[in-house]
Amino acid sequence: MDSLKPPTNPRYKVVRADHPEELEKCMAIRKEVFIDEQGYDIRIETNDDDAQCTHFLLILDSGEPVGTVRVLNSNGQLGRFAILVPYRGMGLGRPLIEAVHDHVRSVGGKEVWCQSQASTEDGGVDATGFYRRCGYVNQGEAFMKEGTLHQNMVFTLA
Ligand SMILES: CC(C)(COP(=O)(O)OP(=O)(O)OC[C@H]1O[C@@H](n2cnc3c(N)ncnc32)[C@H](O)[C@@H]1OP(=O)(O)O)[C@@H](O)C(=O)NCCC(=O)NCCS
Repeated sequence: MDSLKPPTNPRYKVVRADHPEELEKCMAIRKEVFIDEQGYDIRIETNDDDAQCTHFLLILDSGEPVGTVRVLNSNGQLGRFAILVPYRGMGLGRPLIEAVHDHVRSVGGKEVWCQSQASTEDGGVDATGFYRRCGYVNQGEAFMKEGTLHQNMVFTLA
């Protein structure tokens, strides 16, 4: 039914997920994307690093939370970047990554980096094209992690 399709240009806000109920929404999106969709083990997906991270949540004007990302406070490592399937390719990843960049810049960081999944083989995904479109460049050679190829990528903050 057409009325159930997501809007092509959704209106949204990005919030810093400091409150437990916002964090729960981040975790629900991560579960749907990384565990249910990509098949990651829950012990890999959720780890102690979450307590050391700043989390962001993208919420549509309708109130639906559809995207999340986190950044490790100690070293500017971005991760657990997830947009729900029906909302991908609409430009919603960009404002989330920009929220991370603004945050790291505001605390004096000089760069943001990530370990991007880098191959569709073995059930993995290749997100390197997304990060490249957002200004990230490769750092070093690709490597295997948790059974899939990964590539370190870095963005230099102006
Ligand atoms: C990766 C992900 C977060 C991107 O989010 P998104 O909302 O679809 O991305 P956007 O629509 O904001 O895209 C921004 C730009 O990147 C491009 N892009 C997005 N995904 C891409 C891909 N896989 N390969 C190449 N380019 C891509 C878009 O075309 C767009 O380019 P443009 O600005 O020139 O039009 C999303 O696909 C996702 O949640 N994937 C599953 C989880 C995952 O694998 N996360 C990364 C783990 S390392």
